[in-house]
Amino acid sequence: MSQDPDQAKKLQELLKLLSLSNGDTSKLTVQQRKKFEEYKFWRTQPVARFDEKVDNEGPIDSSRTPADIPSEPYPLLKEFEWCTVDITNPQELEDVFVLLNENYVEDQDATFRFNYTREFFNWSLKPPGWHKEWHVGVRIRDSGRLVAFISAIPVTLKVRGKEVKSVEINFLCIHKKLRAKRLTPILIKEITRRVNKCDIWQALYTAGVVLPSPIAVCRYAHRPLNWSKLHEVGFTALPANASKTQMIAKYTLPKGTDTPGLRAMKYEDVDQVFDLFNAYQDRFDLVQVFTKEEFKHWFLGADTVIYSYVVETEGKITDFVSFYSLPFTVLNNPMYKELGIGYLFYYASDADLGFDDRFDPAATSTLKKRLNHLISDVCIIARDLKMDVFNAMSCQDNTLFLDDLKFGPGDGFLNFYLFNYKAFPISGGLTDDNSFDVKNRSNVGVVML
Ligand SMILES: CC(C)(COP(=O)(O)OP(=O)(O)OC[C@H]1O[C@@H](n2cnc3c(N)ncnc32)[C@H](O)[C@@H]1OP(=O)(O)O)[C@@H](O)C(=O)NCCC(=O)NCCS
Repeated sequence: MSQDPDQAKKLQELLKLLSLSNGDTSKLTVQQRKKFEEYKFWRTQPVARFDEKVDNEGPIDSSRTPADIPSEPYPLLKEFEWCTVDITNPQELEDVFVLLNENYVEDQDATFRFNYTREFFNWSLKPPGWHKEWHVGVRIRDSGRLVAFISAIPVTLKVRGKEVKSVEINFLCIHKKLRAKRLTPILIKEITRRVNKCDIWQALYTAGVVLPSPIAVCRYAHRPLNWSKLHEVGFTALPANASKTQMIAKYTLPKGTDTPGLRAMKYEDVDQVFDLFNAYQDRFDLVQVFTKEEFKHWFLGADTVIYSYVVETEGKITDFVSFYSLPFTVLNNPMYKELGIGYLFYYASDADLGFDDRFDPAATSTLKKRLNHLISDVCIIARDLKMDVFNAMSCQDNTLFLDDLKFGPGDGFLNFYLFNYKAFPISGGLTDDNSFDVKNRSNVGVVML
């Protein structure tokens, strides 16, 4: 398609405006954002402005105690009522399941949507220490129908070495018919109230949209495992100058894994893996600190959802890797109903632990080799589990293998936010032009579902 020169120039300017121009994370996104003052809700919350210079890391407002927090929920319009969703009750779990399956993130053409399962909710919403009151719903008073949901789970974060008692907010969802009615701020205020009542004042959350102000920005990456199916459902286009046969050949993985000692993780491994994991995570600026009990839950707690593996050599565990399964429902396709999707979760390796500096060229090279091998094998395992695509983010040390293992950069970015906590920007594994930053990697060591 030809373009007139003026139009081409405008497009160039627009792209430039939207692209990264310096190391400031406020520019670290190709997505458009409003001016801070235009965020009618977020400008009233304890979050950093886009242009704010951070001098000291720490809480923004630490003046309140649980006694200062109202005991009653925020008022809602009379047609609606608050509820605490009891997800141990099958009927209530079903309500969340239906709401999210029908209304959670969809691509713009509405071809795919997440297919959350009961097992997935049980795993993600009921980690040790979970609070029933933090599964917050809004129902229509007359019919009892669940039309909105938001959740929090307790976590301990470590931000540049400082432990922060916190929650992770997830699964915010409003029924499609109730969008753009300012219900989100009310849900956020209500969950904040319930969390504050338990004397917790900080939160970690992620969003595709830009809000004030991302602490890190990561990019999605996709590794096709079953290219023909992805192409047939419209998930992956056939590039110009390539044939289907070439694409299939490009993404064909070896028949079986070849890392000696690679096997499923067992309960007996937990002590060793826990130590290896903590030693590895120490390199990142933003991590979740797991208790051993939490560790067991997150890595061995749900058979068809979380898959964890270790590499054992002569009784010693040298590597650990995990991924979770969250399929997509394929809408309006006569051939396929579901797309199997694996998501890389946490991993650890002792490859570079003997080095003081993870950026030492020898450390980089040894870890890069190890991870390439390990993640390639994980892709093979995922393929054998009938997954069609394997996703990873640009966080952790992932940029060491993303390009080599044919993970293509996705369209989506994930912004990381801290509520009521100021922190210096953390690199999300992206260069100025949003490609994967192999040299500097990422200092984000937390993976959100
Ligand atoms: C995300 C969702 C709840 C937003 O609802 P909405 O009806 O568009 O927005 P509302 O009118 O209720 O509220 C608008 C306010 O919420 C903010 N907001 C929108 N999406 C948000 C998000 N994901 N996280 C936090 N705040 C968000 C807006 O910035 C706006 O506040 P502002 O005036 O300060 O800018 C809704 O689109 C949805 O359910 N989407 C599908 C699920 C989803 O994407 N969940 C979020 C995953 S991160």
